[in-house]
Amino acid sequence: MKVLLLGVALGLLYAGQGEAQLLLVPFSGEWKTHYIAASNKDKITEDGPFHIYVRHIQFHPDNTVDVDFYIKSNGECVKKHVTGVKRKTGVYDVEYAGQNEVTLVQVTHESIIGYIHNVDEEGKETDLVGIIGKRDKLSDTDYQKFKKETSDKGIPEENIVNFTDNDDCPEE
Ligand SMILES: *[C@@H]1O[C@H](CO)[C@@H](O)[C@H](O)[C@H]1NC(C)=O
Repeated sequence: MKVLLLGVALGLLYAGQGEAQLLLVPFSGEWKTHYIAASNKDKITEDGPFHIYVRHIQFHPDNTVDVDFYIKSNGECVKKHVTGVKRKTGVYDVEYAGQNEVTLVQVTHESIIGYIHNVDEEGKETDLVGIIGKRDKLSDTDYQKFKKETSDKGIPEENIVNFTDNDDCPEE
């Protein structure tokens, strides 16, 4: 009986996690980078791996997420694609410029705030916070939430890069 109950409880837990991913599916679509902050600014300045112009995000019901974006290399836009694999609700493992643990901090139809812990190929650790949006402008509330997350992670304000005024990469 105990085993049976445990089985049911685990089943519900897994159903709950699957549903959480299903709930994210409608947030798939076109997105644009607004701001990224990093404890190590080299990662987010031009030619850095996280100088990222997001284009499209697809949350899949099978617990993966696909992200299409551009980075800049010697002034050229370079198209990139990564796939994240869900570790637990709202947390994804992504292989890109080393290993990343990506945590969704806030998801709305207006903006997504994410926290990334990156360990690069040399073992150097970097904390990053990014906010992407649906429109040309973010609401002040969303920007303040991003700034709070940035300071909570100990990232100085001067390490915030504004991506809204320098995006000259192709639309798709
Ligand atoms: C970011 O750049 C945009 C476009 O130039 C500007 O409107 C916005 O005020 C900037 N954000 C901050 C916080 O300076």
